[in-house]
Amino acid sequence: MALPVVDTEYLKEIDKARRDLRALIAFKNCAPIMLRLAWHDAGTYDVNTKTGGPNGSIRNEEEFSHGSNNGLKIALDLCEGVKAKRPKITYADLYQLAGVVAVEVTGGPTIDFVPGRKDSNVCPKEGRLPDATKGVPHLREIFYRMGLSDKDIVALSGGHTLGRAHPERSGFDGPWTQEPLKFDNSYFVELLTEETEGLLKLPTDKALLEDPEFRRYVELYAKDEDAFFRDYAASHKKLSELGFTPR
Ligand code: HEM
Repeated sequence: MALPVVDTEYLKEIDKARRDLRALIAFKNCAPIMLRLAWHDAGTYDVNTKTGGPNGSIRNEEEFSHGSNNGLKIALDLCEGVKAKRPKITYADLYQLAGVVAVEVTGGPTIDFVPGRKDSNVCPKEGRLPDATKGVPHLREIFYRMGLSDKDIVALSGGHTLGRAHPERSGFDGPWTQEPLKFDNSYFVELLTEETEGLLKLPTDKALLEDPEFRRYVELYAKDEDAFFRDYAASHKKLSELGFTPR
């Protein structure tokens, strides 16, 4: 599919879509699932074959029906309302913009957004996203395949400051923090705390405590929210631009 022409007109539409998304997310309280949508579109990237990534392919049933995408049809449908009003904007840009706005409106850092992503209908095979039941080697295997680092793994895992798991979607249940609609460093504070009644820790969350390189960042982010916000914004931007060279 053709590369969108990022001219003044396109940038204006992006600005309007940003406003549409702010209103939609406030009205529907759907920041967490919008962030998860952006992450699942981008997180299929393979740095060696340069396939997958933030290219809107998750809108196709072939991909959104993958087990790891359970529930994301809700977010895709919410985005359709914005796409209908702003048809020029590619799905790839729209989903990444939704992720950036979700973090911003819940109190998180401002993430630099560069438009111009191309849409693709080529869906990656199932199995490129992380499996929550696994440990340290699996996390590294999956994120290194995207071309991301240990620091990115820990910073981005902080995305679980938002939202919750749903038994009917993933088999897991509950939020990671006391205020799942607030983007802050509480995910790391809770991770370093003994089990709290009602809060969730996935095996992949706990893995961040087991590896000394990961744990270093967990401890830093738990005590220094500014450091978390700075690193999160940088890692999120990287994730949102995998395989994309802004012009
Ligand atoms: C939810 C796994 C990384 C953002 C979930 C759920 C699982 C999961 C099992 C529950 C889904 C449900 O039942 O609704 C993982 C694993 C990761 C990972 C194994 C590997 C590190 C990330 C990253 C981000 C992210 C990098 C974003 C930067 C979210 C959000 C939700 C979520 C916001 C809540 C969705 C909602 O409330 O509907 N994740 N995730 N996750 N994930 Fe992750």
